Amino acid sequence: MALIDDLNWRYATKKMNGQVVPQEKLEYILEAARLAPSSSGLQQYKIIVISDKTLLEKIKGFSYHQSQITDCSHLLIWVAWDGYTDERISSVFNDMMDERNLPHSTMDSYRKTILNLYEEAGQEWQAHHASKQSYISFAMAIAAAAEQKVDATPMEGFIAEKLDDLLKLKETGYKTTVILPLGFRETENDWLVNMKKFRIPKDKFIMEMTMEDAADIAGQPMEQTLDDFTQK
Ligand SMILES: Cc1cc2nc3c(=O)[nH]c(=O)nc-3n(C[C@H](O)[C@H](O)[C@H](O)COP(=O)(O)O)c2cc1C
Repeated sequence: MALIDDLNWRYATKKMNGQVVPQEKLEYILEAARLAPSSSGLQQYKIIVISDKTLLEKIKGFSYHQSQITDCSHLLIWVAWDGYTDERISSVFNDMMDERNLPHSTMDSYRKTILNLYEEAGQEWQAHHASKQSYISFAMAIAAAAEQKVDATPMEGFIAEKLDDLLKLKETGYKTTVILPLGFRETENDWLVNMKKFRIPKDKFIMEMTMEDAADIAGQPMEQTLDDFTQK
């Protein structure tokens, strides 16, 4: 139950108190983020860590002035590949094979297969696919922060293009996907801290499905499907 307790403890902190997150806790959170699974194991993203106050102030300027950006201890920024290339994929697979003491050619057939699929899907799909992988790492960091009793605010409320410009990301082939200020809640001034956590109840959220059910519900709106399941 420890993880569930931690997830109930955490919330999207609205007001942080400026206290610094100890280095070992920060490293723990970053390690959880690094250990996240990713499609084909490519880890098509990186994490930028910012604690420089001048830089944070600039970022707040195009993040709807959300105070957590400057009241946090560290801002984590996930940046993902803007597309797949043979060079990028080979570089990761070659490192993977070196680590496993296997020849680089081990991955040749698989590498060509995914590269063909990705090429067909187009660059926009590729960037989106890489971005999705970064969110898995982002979620791991959120859970790890909760375990460490470090507050965190998952954030998409910023203008990604402006952040890309500020961090000069365009030339690097990466794009900002999502950000996570880490710090500690300022209990007295946070309107959300004592609000009850809201989540959609289990019976409206989880469906167990059989082959027969799948045939029955084909084409039916999801809300109707959920009602049918609830009445069973
Ligand atoms: C991808 C993502 C983007 C979010 N963007 C913001 C944001 O910009 N600012 C903010 O205060 N909260 C943001 N949130 C927080 C959500 O509103 C919050 O997680 C949700 O209401 C559930 O509440 P809880 O996290 O407190 O349990 C974001 C959450 C996610 C997952």
